[in-house]
Order: sequence, then structure tokens, then C-alpha cells
Amino acid sequence: MKEQRTFPDWEQLYQAQEVESMPWFHPDLDPDLEKALKKLDLIQGTALDLGTGPGTQAMALAERGFQVTATDLSVTAIQKAQKQAQEKGLNVSFVQDDILNSKLDLEFDFVLDRGCFHVLPPERRQEYVQVVSHLLKEGGY
Ligand SMILES: C[S@@+](CC[C@H](N)C(=O)[O-])C[C@H]1O[C@@H](n2cnc3c(N)ncnc32)[C@H](O)[C@@H]1O
Repeated sequence: MKEQRTFPDWEQLYQAQEVESMPWFHPDLDPDLEKALKKLDLIQGTALDLGTGPGTQAMALAERGFQVTATDLSVTAIQKAQKQAQEKGLNVSFVQDDILNSKLDLEFDFVLDRGCFHVLPPERRQEYVQVVSHLLKEGGY
């Protein structure tokens, strides 16, 4: 029998723990993202970091000059990331949003997902793909 994967209550988790203690916390630009930006020759434009969590990737992109929107299901994650960005003097638009029921009414040059897709229920992956495709500009990545 196939085992069902279980995931945390994200809001509770972000309330209970410091983001720095979370296994996905990576303070700098993820090397895979850096490689992708180089390969695609992406140096500016609008970016969405969905499931941003601690917001480190959103901030790293803002530091490189992208206009960044960052969303997460957890309002506490968003508040913590917003505080960090303010302290660093970075302009990121942090928004609480469920990607499976997204209220975003924008289109982006590129959409980043570092670790959100794989925590969604597999049966909702198709829905996710549709939402993300609506959030991308024509020719976006
Ligand atoms: C593994 S963490 C990765 C966080 C962040 N992307 C990073 O790289 O540090 C997954 C994130 O997805 C968020 N998440 C889970 N389900 C979501 C949903 N339906 N919509 C938006 N965010 C969601 C969680 O709150 C969590 O912050």
C-alpha cells in the first residue's frame, strides 16, 4: 500500500520556530537558481517567489534588481520575511496567498518555486500548473 506523506501545519510551524532552524533555510541565492538565471540570461524583470517561507530567495532576487512579489500560505512566514526585508532595506512585495486558490492578479517574467510544489497534495499538481501558467507572462519562465 502507498504511504500518504504528511506535511506540517505551516502557520503553526512558522509561529513555533525560528526560520533559521528550518532545514530549507538558505540565506543566500540558491546556487541552482543562480545557474538558471545565468543560463536564461535573466538579469531584470518581475519575479514571483511562491511559497517563499523565510523569503531569502525573494530578498536575494530583489538585491539583484528584480521587482519581486513573494507569497506564502503562512501569514507568520510573510510577516517574518517582511521584517527581514525591511531591516535589509529591500523592497519586496510580501503577500499571504494560497497558490492553490490564488488571489494574485498579476503576470510575471519568471516564477520561482523552491520547495512548495513538492509539499502540495499530488492530486492537486495539475491545478497548480494551471495557476502558475496564468501567472506567467507570454514567454516567461
Ligand atoms: C519547504 S518550504 C520552502 C520555503 C522557501 N521557498 C525556501 O526556499 O526557503 C515550503 C513552503 O511552502 C509554503 N506552502 C505550502 N503550501 C502552500 C500553498 N498552498 N500556497 C503557498 N505556499 C505554500 C509553506 O508555508 C512553506 O513556507
